Amino acid sequence: TVLVVDYGAQYAQLIARRVREAQVYSEIVSGDTPVEEIVARKPAAIILSGGPSSVYAEGAPVVDPELFTVGIPVLGLCYGFQAMARALGGEVAPDGTREYGRTELTVCGGVLHDGTPARHPVWMSHGDSVVRAPEGFTVTASSERAAVAAFEDTDRRLAGVQYHPEVGHSPYGQQVLARFLHEVAGIAPGWTTSSIIDDTVAAVRAQVGDGRAICGLSGGVDSAVAAALVQRAIGDRLTCVFVDHGLLRSGEREQVERDFVAATGARLHTEHVADRFLDALAGVTDPEAKRKTIGREFIRVFETATAAVAQDEHVGFLVQGTLYPDVVESGGGSGAATIKSHHNVGGLPDDIEFALVEPLRALFKDEVRRVGRELGLPEAIVGRQPFPGPGLGIRIIGEVTRDRLETLRAADAIAREELTAAGLDDSIWQCPVVLLADVRSVGVQGDGRTYGHPVVLRPVSSEDAMTADWTRLPYEVLERISTRITNEVAEVNRVVLDVTSKPPGTIEWE
Ligand code: XMP
Repeated sequence: TVLVVDYGAQYAQLIARRVREAQVYSEIVSGDTPVEEIVARKPAAIILSGGPSSVYAEGAPVVDPELFTVGIPVLGLCYGFQAMARALGGEVAPDGTREYGRTELTVCGGVLHDGTPARHPVWMSHGDSVVRAPEGFTVTASSERAAVAAFEDTDRRLAGVQYHPEVGHSPYGQQVLARFLHEVAGIAPGWTTSSIIDDTVAAVRAQVGDGRAICGLSGGVDSAVAAALVQRAIGDRLTCVFVDHGLLRSGEREQVERDFVAATGARLHTEHVADRFLDALAGVTDPEAKRKTIGREFIRVFETATAAVAQDEHVGFLVQGTLYPDVVESGGGSGAATIKSHHNVGGLPDDIEFALVEPLRALFKDEVRRVGRELGLPEAIVGRQPFPGPGLGIRIIGEVTRDRLETLRAADAIAREELTAAGLDDSIWQCPVVLLADVRSVGVQGDGRTYGHPVVLRPVSSEDAMTADWTRLPYEVLERISTRITNEVAEVNRVVLDVTSKPPGTIEWE
């Protein structure tokens, strides 16, 4: 394991992912982790991340010099580079250097940059700079404003760079990271999709033994991949539960009931409860009330189904699709938790307590997708864009009814088909289609006057859904979507485009 020490920059997760792209397993630890604790984990190497602060700032994280004496290879990046220089007796000056953004790097030798062009662009972001490398280090690169932009001491397997090799704006950054890991630290690459699958399957077998497990499927990628991994580990001793609440998009039920089962051979228990959800949603128009109603019904159905299966089969384990970023954000920890499902909302008998199985706990989303593909899951599931838990229920503005769901499903299917056909799936984050069910507008179709509903296209580009911009879709694609929807979906006579960024608009309309 390579440990990425997080000094509070937003880059730690990116660094960890890049290390894994070099086929070396990595984990993130907080910048205030004591050296003894880091050493006790026997990392194959350590990477010190960038950080927002100057090494001179009050409360700036200090790197314990002890870290460099225990024989573990260390790479310092940006703030980590400066903190390393300081800890080892070099000199860092708050000289007002300030280099931000794209900068030209001049390479003058060394192992780390071997094979990169003598001059190439890198991404910088620093105020202070290293003015003298520590004893025993060779300076291997400089930039216009930083005489010491990289240094290394390959005997002690220590190195650092002032720039951010992890970002896409440093085109040789990945190569430099890989050289540190493979050449300087001497770590053999081995973290591959097939090794992930083998290791996870073995770990699930060890945890579950000859017990039984249950897994809720949502139609999304995480639960599907988690279930497929556990299925591979324990076969028929896994039962998947799928709640068909009638709020999914066209084809999604089939993807679970037919394609997922065909690809994995998993045992599937479906609850067909669309009527129950429609009854519960009758007359509900307030967005929060809708969400609460859908959430409440979902938990009730899921728990009752789970309890029934668990009671009959003595199920002791519940599979969850927790990902590594959730683990990092909730403070880490590698222990397996035990949960007791909420007694107050469902039919869970008191004596059922599940141990959690979390096969994706160590993985980033892109790794989950790769694992899913290698396990043979359908692309429609593995490549699925984000889709909200309450489904189409929060994309009908107004009361949710069966007819309105059918209308929206048809319009949404057309938009998705055309976006896929135009090859745009990877360039948009998601594209909700929203039915303004309480709005009517006049139109003309054929010889007749129509009085139908508008649908809104809401294509957005985003990194993480926290902020988003509206996607500039090509006019021809918009035109095809509009023509097809107004021709093929009887109730819809108008297609409009949402050109609001987030903030101020959220991605979903409710
Ligand atoms: P908003 O509308 O808040 O959405 O900009 C941000 C992202 O979250 C998704 N979303 C949800 N996902 N349950 C979910 O699982 C929900 O209740 C929910 N509401 C919004 C939305 O699709 C977008 O990707």
